[in-house]
Amino acid sequence: MANFNIFFSPTGGTKKVADILAADLGGNFHNIDLSHTTEKRKFDEKDLCLVSAPSYGGRVPAIAIERLKSFSGGGAKVILNCVYGNRAWEDTLTELQDTLEKQGFTCKAAVAAVAEHSLFRQFATGRPDEKDNAELRTFAVKIKEHLEKDEAGALRLEGRHMKYKPFGGSPLKPESNDDCNGCGLCAKECPVGAIAPSNLKSVDKGLCISCMRCVTICPKKARSVNGEILAQIGERLSPVLGGRKDNHLFLSEPMTEKEKMIAGMYYSAIDHELLKELNETKVLLQKYNNLSPLDMDERHKIMKSILGSTGDEEFFVMQPFLCDYGYNIHVGKRFFANFNFTVLDEAEVRIGDDCFIGPGVSIYTACHSTDPAERNSRREWAEPVRIGNNVWIGGSVTILPGVSIGNNVTIGAGSVVVNDIPDNVVAVGNPCRPVKSI
Ligand SMILES: Cc1cc2nc3c(=O)[nH]c(=O)nc-3n(C[C@H](O)[C@H](O)[C@H](O)COP(=O)(O)O)c2cc1C
Ligand code: SF4
Ligand code: SF4
Repeated sequence: MANFNIFFSPTGGTKKVADILAADLGGNFHNIDLSHTTEKRKFDEKDLCLVSAPSYGGRVPAIAIERLKSFSGGGAKVILNCVYGNRAWEDTLTELQDTLEKQGFTCKAAVAAVAEHSLFRQFATGRPDEKDNAELRTFAVKIKEHLEKDEAGALRLEGRHMKYKPFGGSPLKPESNDDCNGCGLCAKECPVGAIAPSNLKSVDKGLCISCMRCVTICPKKARSVNGEILAQIGERLSPVLGGRKDNHLFLSEPMTEKEKMIAGMYYSAIDHELLKELNETKVLLQKYNNLSPLDMDERHKIMKSILGSTGDEEFFVMQPFLCDYGYNIHVGKRFFANFNFTVLDEAEVRIGDDCFIGPGVSIYTACHSTDPAERNSRREWAEPVRIGNNVWIGGSVTILPGVSIGNNVTIGAGSVVVNDIPDNVVAVGNPCRPVKSI
């Protein structure tokens, strides 16, 4: 068994938190600095990994994710540690969890901790401080006790699984002034190679992730970002960056595969309880689809028992209809679906009032990995689909996982809806795009 302290910490705040946790988790930790390593590594189930990254725009820095993807977990236990600069961490922990679980790690605990903001140093200045130190040490003791119990379970975190908040990067790109003595340290230490050794004063703005490492380590204090822009953005963000934000601890807890499926987490699609529910729904669907089309009372009764909810009693679903679980489908008032409506409802499918579904429409929520080995493990996840009020979905439309369609929308026949569609439009095509406002 070995312990690993795996971190991405351009200006040292994340590493400070990681070291406090590691000290009280006990045992020797081997450091793996994601700023430098590009090597592939295999862990095994006896290993314990503390994986730490800062939050950039509520996400894990892309370079850290890329490097974590070259690791193979082999069942190693993981403690996730996201360090944020007193605003919010949003999807950082879920992105770390999803990435590592996909690589075969088992997430047992997660910490979200505050450190001084690496761009706006006037926020969370000096953190982690004495109070944080005491809190983080208590977290480490609780995590250690939790690991010793070694109970099966999963981490239920704040943040959206799989469909993360977009982060477009920061406009703050440091350049050096005439104090630069050409030592080359910044070029050597930049985690993304954005400073060319042959042109130390400049920066490749396309590559630079604004991590501020070069600014922090320059012995001549020669690198800096545009002070005016820094002050303007700092001023604009001060309402969300001010005050004292908290540190948080999450421990894995018993969770059924069904609970994981509904929470949008990875789950096993061959779980016994889920297979049983799929079969129960299949039996009801067979009954429904084989009823006389004129037996409206029985059709109505069975359809109500299949669907999660209906807005009123005026819904109408033509035969045949197919779905997976049924209970994740919620339809609004006066719902109408034509022949061959197919819904793979691993995640919630919520349809508003006065919606018309054309013949042969399919809605999918289940997602599989594009990695064949991972896909063949039968682990998958699901993303919800939302459809607003007064929507007409034309014949043979396919709606993919995670899509939201607004109110008063018409989707043209045969379209494949890959991205969200706003309110009040006609949208067509593959990929489906708005072509007309209403
Ligand atoms: C480009 C960039 C984006 C950031 N975005 C966020 C954010 O969305 N929320 C937040 O609370 N802090 C944010 N921070 C602050 C860092 O998460 C925080 O300062 C962290 O401690 C930096 O880690 P490091 O000291 O290991 O480099 C951002 C920092 C940078 C450089
Ligand atoms: S670290 Fe500072 S002094 Fe050294 S090359 Fe970079 S900017 Fe110049
Ligand atoms: S050039 Fe950009 S990415 Fe490289 S160390 Fe400096 S701030 Fe970070």
